Order: sequence, then structure tokens, then C-alpha cells
Amino acid sequence: MTTEAAVPSDPCPTDDTLLGRGRELAALTRALAVHRLVALTGPAGVGKSRLAAAAAAEARRLRPCRVRTVDLGALHAPELFAGTLGYALGIRARDDGSELGALAQGLGAEPTLLVLDGCERLLGRAAAGIEYLIDACPDLVVLAVGRATPGSRYERVQRLEPLAEGPATALLCTRARQFGAPAFARSGLEHLDALPLCHLLDRNPLAIELAAGRLTQLSPRQLMSEVSRPAGLLGLAPVALPPDRAADCGDRLPDRTLRAAVEGSHDLCTRAERLLWARLSAVPVGFDLAEAEQACTGRDLTGYALEQAWFGLIRSSVLVSYGAGAQRYRLPFLLRAYGRERLRRINR
Ligand SMILES: Nc1ncnc2c1ncn2[C@@H]1O[C@H](COP(=O)(O)OP(=O)(O)OP(=O)(O)O)[C@@H](O)[C@H]1O
Ligand SMILES: [Mg+2]
Repeated sequence: MTTEAAVPSDPCPTDDTLLGRGRELAALTRALAVHRLVALTGPAGVGKSRLAAAAAAEARRLRPCRVRTVDLGALHAPELFAGTLGYALGIRARDDGSELGALAQGLGAEPTLLVLDGCERLLGRAAAGIEYLIDACPDLVVLAVGRATPGSRYERVQRLEPLAEGPATALLCTRARQFGAPAFARSGLEHLDALPLCHLLDRNPLAIELAAGRLTQLSPRQLMSEVSRPAGLLGLAPVALPPDRAADCGDRLPDRTLRAAVEGSHDLCTRAERLLWARLSAVPVGFDLAEAEQACTGRDLTGYALEQAWFGLIRSSVLVSYGAGAQRYRLPFLLRAYGRERLRRINR
């Protein structure tokens, strides 16, 4: 549950390379040097955990500090934050029962970068606990990673966008070759269909890695037609690597389906947010709040409730902004595909 970050050993160099993300890594490293709470946020599978691990290694290289990473995936209720953190870090509550006091003692003992992964599970209700730790430990920096931020007044937010075209196609081609996909056998050349396929996958690294496994059975064109259907896209699931590659690389490949990743976001939404998500999935391309209101107002969702749901979906990275400075938002393809499935079910 908790890991000391280490400079990764590299038995399988092509698998361990962080593709692209140079600008994002530099910005995150800079932010960690000057802010006490940095929140890295973005939609399911966009590469937050991977970038956070790289940023933690970089921060430790630049400034000696202890790095503790805690996966909040096991957090069942935001109220259990302090207890879960203490358990993960091996810090027991003090005799007076104070879990946060004990955490402050433990984390304040030496310069520490605390990486909290899975912050969407905090649902904005653990900000006070994080702030307490930051106030109590002058040498503590927190990197909060998740589809939603903790919602603290201290947080400096960095939003993660899809991979750029070059790294996205490189990831697809590298993984397809590792799986032994016939169309990608010639190393060093990008397959012509790689870029359109990556666009259909929203240049989302999790979707790209899962799709690469399917290229052993399907041609790129067949896969494109498969992922153009919501069920085909959401049905992408892990495929085992050939045995000669599995020993070195297997544990770095995703172990979850795309549907499970998206459902994780859906489970954390309120009823109104789910309804808005479903209705927005029928609206082509992008929208602002006024257009969303016009298209989605209806039974069980009107006025203030719709507005609250709109901001809730933005907070949890279900809606992502696009266009320089514009307040226009869109549903990433994966989330749109899921929303369309839900809408069909609601309208049945
Ligand atoms: N820049 C990258 N280069 C190579 N592989 C990447 C990159 N970004 C992400 N990946 C891989 O894509 C997969 C998804 O990334 P990651 O788990 O970091 O996503 P996430 O945003 O944390 O997802 P979630 O919201 O579900 O926690 C992982 O297998 C990861 O190793
Ligand atoms: Mg993650």
C-alpha cells in the first residue's frame, strides 16, 4: 500500500520510459519546489499516477527528502482518511487517540514528500486533515493525485491533458510490438493507422495500452471499427504478454479494464451528476454551461441542481475544458461512450 519511491531499475527499457510529458514533468517539479500542496488531476487513465511517480523521483533527486506514496484506493469513506493514512504509513494513533497528531509527528520528523494517490475518494472532505498536516510539518510537501482534487485553499492545481500525438503513437507502437502484433513487427516505423487509432482512444494512455493488446488478433482498421462503438471501447481489457516478455514487463501493464476505470468515476458521482453526464453524452462535441442547461434541463434535473452537477463533473474531471481560455467543456470519448450506454438504459 505504501512504497518508498526508488529510481526505477530498468530490466525492460522500452516499457519503463515515460513518453512525452517533459513539459508537464518540469512544471510539476517546479510546483513541488515552491508549493506545499500540489494537486495533479485529470480523467481516468490519463497518466496521473505515472507522472506523479516520475515527479517524486525527480523531486528527490533535486532535494534530498523521503518520499512516501500512499494509494487511497482502499479508502472506504473520507472520514477514515487519517486512520487509513496512519495504517498505510505504519503510524499508530497517540495515546490521547489523536490520529492526525501522530501523523504530524511521524511526517514532521524529516523532509518528506507525501504522494497521496486516488484523492477522488476524499470527495473534498479531507482537505482539513491535509491542511492540519501541512501547518504542523514545515518540511512536508504533499502531492495529491486523483480525478478530483482535495479542495484545499492551499492547493496548486495542475490538470493533465491527453498525451500529445507523438508520445501517444509511440506508446501504441511500443506496446503493440511487445505483444507481438503482426502489423507492428517492423521496429522503428510508425504504423500509418497508429495516429487515427490513438485519436479514437482520446490519446488516453490506459486505453492505448489496453488497445495494443488487441492488435495481436485484429488489424488496426478492425480495431478502429471496434473502438468506434461504445461497447467495443469500454470492453478493452488487459491481455497477457507473451511469456518471454511477461517476466520483465508484466507488472507495469494495466491490470484493469477501461470499463472499470470509468465506472470508478461514475460511482463517485451524485445522482444529478450521473444524469447530467448521461444527457451530455448525447450533445455533440463541446458546450458551455448555458448550452448544457438548454440541452439537459428536464425531468429530475433543473436550475440550481443542474448547475451544481455541472461544477461537480468539472471538479471530478468528467468534463474537461478545451480551447484557450474558453469556458467550453467536453466529455472525453471514453466517458462519453459510458454516458451513452447509461442514457440508453435511462430512456429504456
Ligand atoms: N507518459 C506515459 N508513458 C508511458 N506510459 C504511460 C504514460 N502515461 C501513462 N502511462 C501508462 O498508462 C497507464 C495508465 O496510466 P496511470 O495509471 O498513470 O493513469 P491514471 O491517470 O493514474 O489513471 P486513474 O485515474 O485510473 O488512476 C499505466 O499503465 C501507465 O504506466
Ligand atoms: Mg492513478
